[in-house]
Amino acid sequence: MSEQTAQHYARLASTYDELWTYDPDHIRQFSRAMIDALRLIPSDAIADIGCGTGLYTRALCEDLRPARPVLCVDPTPAMLDQLPASPGLRPLLASAEDLASGHVGLPTAGPLDAVIMKESIHHVPDRRGVVAGLTSMLSRHGRILVVMLPTTISHPLFRAAHDRFEELQPEPDEIADLLAAAGLRASVSYRTFHVTVDRARYVHMLESRYMSVLDEFSESELAAGIEQFRRAYRDDPVIRFDDHFAFVTGWVRPG
Ligand SMILES: C[S@@+](CC[C@H](N)C(=O)[O-])C[C@H]1O[C@@H](n2cnc3c(N)ncnc32)[C@H](O)[C@@H]1O
Repeated sequence: MSEQTAQHYARLASTYDELWTYDPDHIRQFSRAMIDALRLIPSDAIADIGCGTGLYTRALCEDLRPARPVLCVDPTPAMLDQLPASPGLRPLLASAEDLASGHVGLPTAGPLDAVIMKESIHHVPDRRGVVAGLTSMLSRHGRILVVMLPTTISHPLFRAAHDRFEELQPEPDEIADLLAAAGLRASVSYRTFHVTVDRARYVHMLESRYMSVLDEFSESELAAGIEQFRRAYRDDPVIRFDDHFAFVTGWVRPG
């Protein structure tokens, strides 16, 4: 993990859940969409890699009630510290690379039936190696879900932030190609979540650099961007936008 990414999440960890819970229903809907996409069942051995504070993992566990604890993997100690102590959640301090390379062993008895990576793949430089390594840890019912934003997003960021995001974000099709190259049956689909957030709250989110792309800007650049945002939305006390997510899945082929 780069120093900038490590610092970003160390700084954000204690307020992460508050910053991202602008709509509690959204978290519930999202975790259901992930359960559906992987057709998860309670007997699956599940790992959430780059789980962060477990904001979505918790909702998934409440819905699915898995028989075994979900393995919650993240390389940022401060994020993982926010994971509530629960028999349903098993924390593991490691990066996707650590796990995929075997540098950190899988602490579960058997292989994994389901791997979720929600909004963490863009932090992984060696995506090919990680996808291949994680694929080798799957059972014969195994499947992987990579949830990621597309390169063009409708979040009401300022122009420079959109441009930088486009430069940094990998393409969902690129991830699907890596899953296919690892031998999985890969596909990409899109889900749209309608977001409603108070303008004042969104300004606070921008000021807190709630997305890692906002760390790409100096204090003065961010202030100028927020001013641009305020001007653009001066007549809207409530901001509405469609949050489109790519759900990239890979399934172990039968036989
Ligand atoms: C945007 S947060 C997403 C957290 C959680 N999945 C969610 O949706 O709320 C990205 C997470 O990826 C983690 N991360 C950064 N580099 C990583 C890596 N190389 N392998 C796995 N996770 C990583 C960060 O520590 C952070 O918790």
